[in-house]
Amino acid sequence: MPRLTISPVDRVFVLTGAGISAESGIPTFRDAGGLWRNYRIEEVASPHAWRRDPRLVWDFYSMRRKVASAAKPNPGHFALATLEQALGDRLFLCTQNVDNLHEQGGARRVHHMHGELFKSRCDSCSLPPFADTSLHESPGEIPRCSCGGKIRPHICWFGETPFELEQIFRALDECSLFIAIGTSGSVEPAASFAAHVAGGARTFYVGPEAPANHAMFDECFLGKAGELLPGLFSC
Ligand code: APR
Repeated sequence: MPRLTISPVDRVFVLTGAGISAESGIPTFRDAGGLWRNYRIEEVASPHAWRRDPRLVWDFYSMRRKVASAAKPNPGHFALATLEQALGDRLFLCTQNVDNLHEQGGARRVHHMHGELFKSRCDSCSLPPFADTSLHESPGEIPRCSCGGKIRPHICWFGETPFELEQIFRALDECSLFIAIGTSGSVEPAASFAAHVAGGARTFYVGPEAPANHAMFDECFLGKAGELLPGLFSC
């Protein structure tokens, strides 16, 4: 089993993707049976889709809320929460995932760069994102804000700017150890994080197959997150 030694002065940046939630029963996007095999991104996850058919967009996120609310954290999520307890603010946990399994697994400071599935916001006014577990299923009306705007999922869609990028790049510049877990390395800007820190930090990947950006990592530990993460870190 691979081991990663973390020194008392190491600052660690962890990036997770859909793969860390796969063992919890949440489908990934690009694996066989993944979400993008069954839905067209431009129909359900873009501002254009929202303008054209908000009902279809809510049906997609309603299905994702149903699947995610039935999921439980797996040993990979628990291992990262334990790492957070050991490192404190020397760990920056950034996720592309919109589920809340890191939080359910005990992580306290999770940076959701692509938004959060169980939050919604108004598509028109500056109403801050709010907790929302409703399914907003067909054939119900699209939920409305008091300002008259439509309530949308608090998700970063294709063509929109991810959240917290200033904090994320500050943490990337400060880290001495970068670990990506369960992400195919297909979507920017996350796919370039490893290249951004190269030369200044050790870089590792954890997942069952080498990601598209594998050349950016010092080493890839091939295996499932739920199996490798619990024994990976030596602090
Ligand atoms: N443990 C670790 N990794 C796994 C596991 C597992 N048990 N099972 C699958 N994986 C890996 C796959 O090998 C794949 O490389 O998880 C990765 C999932 O890749 P994607 O489906 O592309 O998901 P991700 O990289 O998170 O997608 C990034 O794309 O669609 C957008 O916004 C969406 O956040 C998402 C972004």
